[in-house]
Amino acid sequence: MRHLIDFGDLPREEWDELYRRASQIMDNPARFLDACRGKVACNLFYEPSTRTNFSFQTAMMRLGGTVFGFADPNSSSVAKGETLKDTIKMVSGYADVVVMRTPWEGSAKAASLYSHVPVINAGDGGHMHPTQTMADLTTITRLHGGVDGLSIGLCGDLKNGRTVHSLIKAMEKFKDVKFFLISPRELAVPEYMRSFMREHNIWFTEVTGLEAVIPQLDVLYMTRIQRERFVDPLEYERNKGIYILTRRKLERAKPDMLVMHPLPRVDEITVDVDDDPRAAYFQQARYGMFARMALLADLANQPRLEQTDVVEIGTKPVCSNPRCITQTEHYLPPLVKKNGGVDCCAFCDAQLK
Ligand code: NCD
Repeated sequence: MRHLIDFGDLPREEWDELYRRASQIMDNPARFLDACRGKVACNLFYEPSTRTNFSFQTAMMRLGGTVFGFADPNSSSVAKGETLKDTIKMVSGYADVVVMRTPWEGSAKAASLYSHVPVINAGDGGHMHPTQTMADLTTITRLHGGVDGLSIGLCGDLKNGRTVHSLIKAMEKFKDVKFFLISPRELAVPEYMRSFMREHNIWFTEVTGLEAVIPQLDVLYMTRIQRERFVDPLEYERNKGIYILTRRKLERAKPDMLVMHPLPRVDEITVDVDDDPRAAYFQQARYGMFARMALLADLANQPRLEQTDVVEIGTKPVCSNPRCITQTEHYLPPLVKKNGGVDCCAFCDAQLK
């Protein structure tokens, strides 16, 4: 593995190795104090973030490395009109690894075409968030003993929730996982996610009610309605506050069901759930830091590419997803991939018309 763009690209053995390393770090952090000594990470955060940005920063610091970057794109050259390609060419000259979060879907993939060092996708619009999946899998494995055979409820904004998309992608690597996809119809998973589950024979059902399915679940993964992704504010108003997990609803859940949430929470989980032993979301955030340490220890130590491949220059976007990176960075090549036999944009996964 050279970059981490989409969890689906990570072979199962490499995930097992990362998990093993994350566990070693948790059990004996002193052994890893110098794992990134002298290495420098660049954090490019074009979108608000506290957890992920802090998690990557503290992960690098605990490995003896350092971090530079920005958390507000207005303080960078993007504000002057610089292309993503130029930004990446430049920062990958300074850093050993680039961590990026943006509102544009497919941006990490785009950056990886031009980078001299590994690129980590820390969230690209409503598309993917693979390092959150590393946090999620670490949590499930540590607290539940494994992932195979679990019934997982994903609840909330499954259309725009990138953490959900990455977690679904990961489950192709495990056996007999069942998904209960709980959302209003207008916030159901994108079609490319359904194709993915069908193609990989992942069992799933789509429902609108949480209470009816809660007794069947081993993991309940709550998500925030992603306000910033709504084009129509009325659509957000219609859906906000739609699922709220309370202590009373938890009474019908299995005694060892894990309640997870990538955070930040708005109102999806009432505060009184925090003291229930099943509430795993704060631990999940801490596990995320250890998982990111395992990833950085690997990627920041890879040899630098002095020469990047020559990439075809595009002329106009072939993808019609308004949030796709190809809509704004017109030089990107028109890359196509198959999802379930259908032609899709290789940057953002949207079906090509
Ligand atoms: C998530 C994200 O940014 O997608 N947060 C995170 O990384 N922990 C979830 C969210 O913002 O709702």
